[in-house]
Amino acid sequence: MKRILIAGGAGFLGSHLCERLVERGHSVTCVDNFRTGHRRNISHLLWHPRFRLIEHDIVKPLSVSASIDEIYNLACPASPPHYQRDPRYTVMVNVMGVANLIELARYKKARLLQASTSEVYGDPLNDEQSETDWGNVNCTGPRACYDEGKRCAETLLFDEWRQHDLPIKVARIFNTYGPRMQEEDGRIISNFVVQALTDQPMTVYGDGSQTRSFCYVDDLVDGLIRLMDSPASVTGPINLGNPEELTVLRVAHRVAAVLGKRAKVDFNPLPADDPRRRRPNISRAAALLGWKPTTSLDAGLTKTIAYFRKLLAPVNAHEALPLDNVVSMGAARAASA
Ligand SMILES: NC(=O)c1ccc[n+]([C@@H]2O[C@H](COP(=O)([O-])OP(=O)(O)OC[C@H]3O[C@@H](n4cnc5c(N)ncnc54)[C@H](O)[C@@H]3O)[C@@H](O)[C@H]2O)c1
Repeated sequence: MKRILIAGGAGFLGSHLCERLVERGHSVTCVDNFRTGHRRNISHLLWHPRFRLIEHDIVKPLSVSASIDEIYNLACPASPPHYQRDPRYTVMVNVMGVANLIELARYKKARLLQASTSEVYGDPLNDEQSETDWGNVNCTGPRACYDEGKRCAETLLFDEWRQHDLPIKVARIFNTYGPRMQEEDGRIISNFVVQALTDQPMTVYGDGSQTRSFCYVDDLVDGLIRLMDSPASVTGPINLGNPEELTVLRVAHRVAAVLGKRAKVDFNPLPADDPRRRRPNISRAAALLGWKPTTSLDAGLTKTIAYFRKLLAPVNAHEALPLDNVVSMGAARAASA
């Protein structure tokens, strides 16, 4: 059994990771400030004896009394409307937040895995993005708080590795979708699914010819765990994503087809600095981790649609959350004193 801390564990990806690691018999501490995450994502884990929640903002230093073997950092607002709402905060989470987790990892002698992003490539110059690409980011644009924040986080980790031999792992995650995305987070698949389920036209920005590659959440979580479990020499960065490239318009049609509906589309102006292409080269992940996604888009969409169908249904008043396993940071410090 490993003792694992997951920052951002109440978010979309983090909650699936918490769940998978608890299922595998590990002890999991989720640290989250619920900035964009939700209690409902982890409510089913709160009763579990090997799961613990600490409410805390990683921009502030974090002290944990228990031993920690591994830290996964997923704490960061991830969708454009969320990270652009308070851009300064987004930068702080990726700089101060990551610096604080580095301190914790050094003190606990723990491995630290950073959830980086395909956005470090910006608007890519190549058809397919490889880890050797340096990226094409507008550092003064509206996406820069996230893109440059994540780039700086990678810099912090690699300097720490070079100077102090901190065992680091950097995953560059490409668009991922699945249950527990938020209905109003402005991401392509959650937008399309919610709009199609509620009989609204699906919003396509630009003419829909820009491409994206969508990875189902279960595959992504598998990749993150394989990276964490890889030999210490494997630091990354490693692309994790699905290389099947589709135009955004094609995705809208696939969502409608899985729902058995005719696609209704509403075209809107393209936002500033929207990347034209996204397709990961995953040969490094295949060679070093033996990883590749296995879930087809239709299979993933079916599960995602089932989740949103339930989420949008009228709320059941009996679904109260058990809160026994929740501690605030003050209580955690008191317990460690
Ligand atoms: N989902 C994707 O397609 C995708 C793609 C690339 C990278 N990523 C990265 O993966 C991570 C998780 O993404 P997600 O889609 O699950 O997003 P999410 O917004 O659902 O999850 C982020 C979680 O971090 C928490 N958080 C934010 N700031 C925090 C802070 N200062 N202290 C503690 N907790 C904080 C939020 O409350 C939330 O629970 C992010 O770092 C994101 O940049 C995600």
